[in-house]
Amino acid sequence: MTKPLNLGMIGYGFMGRAHTNGYKRVGDFFPELEYRPVLKAACARNQENIQAFADQWGYESIETDWRALIARDDIDAVDICVPNNLHKEIAIACAEAGKMILCEKPIAMNTAEGEEMCQAVEKAGVANTVWYNYRRVPAVTLAKQIIDSGKLGKIFHYRANFLQDWTIADDLPQGGAALWRLDVDAAGSGVTGDLLAHCIDTAIWLNGSVSDVTAMTETFIKERVHQETGKKQKVGIDDACAFLCHFENGSLGLFESTRYARGHKALYTLEINGENASLRWDLHDLHRLEMFDHADEGITRGWKSIHVTDGEHPYMDKWWVPGLQIGYEHSFVHHVADFLKSLESGEPCHPTFRDALETQKVCDAVLASASDRSWHTIG
Ligand SMILES: NC(=O)c1ccc[n+]([C@@H]2O[C@H](COP(=O)([O-])OP(=O)(O)OC[C@H]3O[C@@H](n4cnc5c(N)ncnc54)[C@H](O)[C@@H]3O)[C@@H](O)[C@H]2O)c1
Repeated sequence: MTKPLNLGMIGYGFMGRAHTNGYKRVGDFFPELEYRPVLKAACARNQENIQAFADQWGYESIETDWRALIARDDIDAVDICVPNNLHKEIAIACAEAGKMILCEKPIAMNTAEGEEMCQAVEKAGVANTVWYNYRRVPAVTLAKQIIDSGKLGKIFHYRANFLQDWTIADDLPQGGAALWRLDVDAAGSGVTGDLLAHCIDTAIWLNGSVSDVTAMTETFIKERVHQETGKKQKVGIDDACAFLCHFENGSLGLFESTRYARGHKALYTLEINGENASLRWDLHDLHRLEMFDHADEGITRGWKSIHVTDGEHPYMDKWWVPGLQIGYEHSFVHHVADFLKSLESGEPCHPTFRDALETQKVCDAVLASASDRSWHTIG
């Protein structure tokens, strides 16, 4: 007998769709799970739009006020898929109402907000997780297994990039639907919270905590018309960011993100170099993990590309046959599956709010360092 997990979804944009797809597919591909998501209600301010979303994706009902959604007795868990400036208020209200919370990243606008959210979920004792989904791309999960096995030996370097090119036009407005990411009041920061937060979460997961950072940021377009006021307003986000860091294990980190790398759409790459072996991964080729193992025989030693599609690879026994790959959307199916499993086991589903706060602290230190041009220790 399966148990229902009644879900309330807030937001119907990019992530509202990606997560809903995860809820819909998880039961078919992870049939052993005790809990089954039920799409109880979807919420957004525009009634017509949210009704259309609910009809298309199969939600039973709609709400136009997130407070009304949280007040409902038939909702067990709330999924927060709205701009970053709304995460804190919604998450704290959910915790106070005893709802489980699946919150989008970055956890909050800043560390102070994130700390309040952590305290609220910990006080209420509600299950919580933050959607740093790249951890659950099988090739990245495999990298974690290889690193944890000790095969790389002492780690010297970790480097990651997240490159895009969609904000180069200077007549692109800021704020409002679709373009809230350019409005500092809705997003909190630019590429640091939006893109580097992913790189930082994966880095901490794979390589341990960051101890200090030094950073530079740039805002290439200084003013943009705001969609809500129709007026030209100062741009408060970082368009590009690069930072150096030390990890607590003694390794050095190098990170770069921009929305001005012409030709790159979502190039998230990471590489880790240890004394015995190195690994690298590229989101554009997400089902492959590249590895160089110095222990290989000399004349055939070189980078090899592991096609992460075998049944023994993480999550892959749930999908097709060896050699057939899966994609981006499956990382969300895996996250839902792990969340449901965590409800069975009573163990946390990582990254929890507390884990995501560590990433937020690094983001804040990066922005502070770029502002005062000095090294910042992670508090
Ligand atoms: N994990 C990832 O890879 C990933 C990718 C993209 C976005 N995100 C995060 O997901 C969140 C949402 O981003 P998105 O790309 O889906 O944005 P989006 O602009 O596509 O969707 C935002 C949604 O929020 C709704 N919304 C706004 N204000 C609301 C309110 N007051 N009440 C109810 N609904 C409201 C909008 O109607 C819209 O449906 C952000 O925190 C973002 O950082 C994460």
